Amino acid sequence: MIQRCVLVVPVVAVLVGVAVVLAGVANKAPDSVVLDKASTKRTPVTFPHKAHQDVTACSTCHHTNAELKAGSAEEVKPCAACHLDPDKPTTPSMREMSLTKNPFHKLCIDCHKQQGKGPTKCVDCHKA
Ligand code: HEC
Ligand code: HEC
Ligand code: HEC
Ligand code: HEC
Repeated sequence: MIQRCVLVVPVVAVLVGVAVVLAGVANKAPDSVVLDKASTKRTPVTFPHKAHQDVTACSTCHHTNAELKAGSAEEVKPCAACHLDPDKPTTPSMREMSLTKNPFHKLCIDCHKQQGKGPTKCVDCHKA
């Protein structure tokens, strides 16, 4: 019995350590993300995340994480958590294709138009 406890304590300590490390990695901003949660009508979109971190503040896109900074340990929820099947009908839905109702079209295309940089045509994001 005593011998078992002696073994269990270090094993638990190692597991906790691994969990902490994994949590840290999970919060790291990705270099690139494939957005495919609603891709039934158009092809998935590859989003070059890293290239956008110098363009604007994290919170421009992660608008529910007002204080988010590179390397911070804050939990970042995927957009789909709130926008795939929104609670309120007024919240932009990922299942919409309209340029004013789809949250990605709103955010991504509006900025590309404003800055005169980045794709604005359907096929430049939804590659064949
Ligand atoms: C700046 C990039 C970008 C451009 C330009 C763009 N889209 Fe999208 N679109 C996205 C992203 C990102 C999603 C979310 C994809 C997902 O989560 O599956 C999306 C979602 C969609 C969806 C809903 C998802 C689905 O497949 O059912 C449709 C339909 C769609 N787009 C059609 C269009 C059309 C039509 C155009 C041109 C008028 C267009 N898109 C232009 C990025 C873009
Ligand atoms: C131009 C928009 C944009 C900017 C700026 C941006 N992100 Fe993101 N980020 C995204 C999108 C889109 C995703 C993919 C979310 C999804 O899968 O629904 C993402 C995903 C993430 C994820 C992974 C979340 C998950 O799904 O597990 C983390 C962490 C993250 N971003 C952190 C950051 C940090 C930190 C910054 C600032 C240094 C930043 N982002 C800037 C758009 C952006
Ligand atoms: C925790 C939930 C949550 C997450 C995560 C989230 N959103 Fe939202 N978002 C909302 C809600 C709720 C609204 C509607 C706000 C309102 O009507 O005041 C909204 C509104 C928006 C709008 C419309 C803003 C406007 O000016 O009309 C865009 C665009 C948007 N979100 C894009 C995104 C993107 C892209 C991501 C991921 C990077 C994301 N959201 C993550 C909850 C969320
Ligand atoms: C706040 C402004 C802003 C937002 C929001 C934004 N972008 Fe961009 N995007 C840019 C700029 C600026 C560039 C050009 C970067 C460059 O040329 O270095 C760009 C470039 C791109 C490119 C081309 C990258 C390349 O290597 O040619 C893609 C693809 C892209 N954006 C997709 C998206 C998608 C998808 C979203 C929404 C999730 C998004 N962008 C949101 C400003 C933005």
